Amino acid sequence: MSEENAYQTKRGAKDATIVNPRPGLTLDPVSEGGVAIPAPGGPYLIGDKMTGGYGKGADILHDCTLAVEEGEIAVIVGPNGAGKSTAMKAVFGMLNVREGAVRLNGEDITALTPQARVAKGMAFVPQTSNIFTSMTVEENLEMGAFLRKDDISGTMEQVYELFPILREKRRQHAGELSGGQRQQVAVGRALMTQPKVLMLDEPTAGVSPIVMDELFDRIIEVARTGISILMVEQNARQALQIADKGYVLVQGRNAFTDTGKALLANPEVRKSFLGG
Ligand SMILES: Nc1ncnc2c1ncn2[C@@H]1O[C@H](COP(=O)(O)OP(=O)(O)O)[C@@H](O)[C@H]1O
Ligand SMILES: [Mg+2]
Repeated sequence: MSEENAYQTKRGAKDATIVNPRPGLTLDPVSEGGVAIPAPGGPYLIGDKMTGGYGKGADILHDCTLAVEEGEIAVIVGPNGAGKSTAMKAVFGMLNVREGAVRLNGEDITALTPQARVAKGMAFVPQTSNIFTSMTVEENLEMGAFLRKDDISGTMEQVYELFPILREKRRQHAGELSGGQRQQVAVGRALMTQPKVLMLDEPTAGVSPIVMDELFDRIIEVARTGISILMVEQNARQALQIADKGYVLVQGRNAFTDTGKALLANPEVRKSFLGG
């Protein structure tokens, strides 16, 4: 990685005092099986006690709370069908939240459309269909910036510095790329809006362990620039290793909420969700 990589410059070490710009504020009081109690002033983004489902169907989420602080990585894990993707859609405004609220930087955004949330600094990379396969890599990045009226070339340069392979392949159709490269396109496209919060639903799905590690490293770099990451991951163990905060969801509810480290050390979490 070159020294001028914008996603590497602002913070450099894993030292908690460097990674966390406001030490003491990020580790919300948490309780096993319970819901995070917001820090004074509230987290940067929170889906707070969300209850809701699809259309007029039964509730999928029950009192579900997810939150992330500025520049932190929050990871959501849990079994298939637990409601992880549904919770992400709820936070992004793609689902009717019947009870609870979503707040961004203290502002209640529960009633806003996804487009309005993008304008407020949120970006979402969904689990599937997250790129335009018949467009080139560069066209995908340009599409990501469609809401912007200013010069996007600087941001595109930052994305190419973060993911050098995309610069090499910028004239190729995204559909010709490998799974890991497509995920880089999807993340790069989301970064083109210059978001403050990046939401990723299984960014490493279907990629090899090496590519997964590489993607996680890039996600850490993005977080170090102050962007909050809210991410769903199937690779629970690896993802919790890079998580400031982890959420275990089961049947639409918070089962465990703690730091990534604490969840990895929790015998019950290990036994039930991490394969021992
Ligand atoms: N578009 C949808 N319409 C109705 N039900 C859905 C839809 N998407 C998911 N569900 C249901 O919501 C539940 C949670 O699914 P999902 O959020 O995709 O879980 P996860 O991402 O944790 O695997 C499942 O029972 C699933 O069948
Ligand atoms: Mg899912």
